Amino acid sequence: MSSEEATAQQSQSLVGLLAALESIGPAAQEAIAQAADAKALEDLRIEYLGKKGKLSELNQRMGALDAREKPIAGKALNLNKNAITDLLRQRQESLSARELDARLATEAVDVTLPGIRPQRGALHPIALMTREITSIFRSMGFQVESGPEIETEYMNFDSLNIPREHPARDMQDSLFVDRGYVLRTHTSPTQIRTYLKMKPPFAVITTGKVYRHDSDATHSPMFHQMEGFAVGEDISFGHLKNVLYEFLRALYGKDVKVQFRPSFFPFTEPSAEVDVWSEARGCWLEVLGSGMIHPNVLRNGGIDPEKYSGFAFGLGIDRLAMLKYGISDLRLLFENDLRFLRQF
Ligand code: PHE
Repeated sequence: MSSEEATAQQSQSLVGLLAALESIGPAAQEAIAQAADAKALEDLRIEYLGKKGKLSELNQRMGALDAREKPIAGKALNLNKNAITDLLRQRQESLSARELDARLATEAVDVTLPGIRPQRGALHPIALMTREITSIFRSMGFQVESGPEIETEYMNFDSLNIPREHPARDMQDSLFVDRGYVLRTHTSPTQIRTYLKMKPPFAVITTGKVYRHDSDATHSPMFHQMEGFAVGEDISFGHLKNVLYEFLRALYGKDVKVQFRPSFFPFTEPSAEVDVWSEARGCWLEVLGSGMIHPNVLRNGGIDPEKYSGFAFGLGIDRLAMLKYGISDLRLLFENDLRFLRQF
């Protein structure tokens, strides 16, 4: 028998099969121990246990053995298969444990580090001013009403005794929305809306945005006004003065210097503008317009001017905030610069 014939015969024999198995075992063990990751392990599983793997190949060779040899070969094959399966699983486990350790190490959180503080919001100076003014008037018994920012021309002008050809309509540089509609140029139309729905006596304030075609360091096309008015029997100019003095003292302190100056508004008669002395600037600053409600205005609001009288006043909230907080440019209030807003 030639050596080739012997090898061929041996490869068909039980001895040959067991010998092959014996070399596969340690090789597999070695390779599995070296496998660096899940992918390498999977490749090894296919190489040894897959359909065309090394063990399946030997399994097929069993067919050539006789009945006495088959169980022996089968048992040996199974032992090897189980051993390799165990090795693969153990390696898999130790690899994932290592991966977990590595992840825990890199993703560790130091719970002793200071946290990131959420930025807290704050009220805008206009909102602060509005609240302060509102609470002063509430404490004097005024109630709060509101009106729309888009007004009819009638409510914004005609009802307030400002006729079509009156120069005040130009004076206010109105922003028209559509035929008959205008962005309200002052909060005074809320007077009429309130007169139409309330029965005197009443004392009301309203605050909100107003619009005029105007823009520089002291004028903004949108700004804020507060309107106050009281209607009843025997309401006099003395009441108006008293309310405004009390208000300005509450806002600027007991020693505030106030001056009433005769003025003109179509919707009040007589009318006065009110100035506050600014120590910082060394001059009087106009802060509000006021007067006794014109009989025509009361009538347009469905109130009998023979029976009732009232006073009204309007002030610029932005102007008061600038005075109070020492803001030099009105536009700062509307630029939403957080460095500015955080100061309040
Ligand atoms: N509406 C006036 C303005 O916008 C202010 C005002 C209100 C004056 C009420 C008198 C009475 O300037």
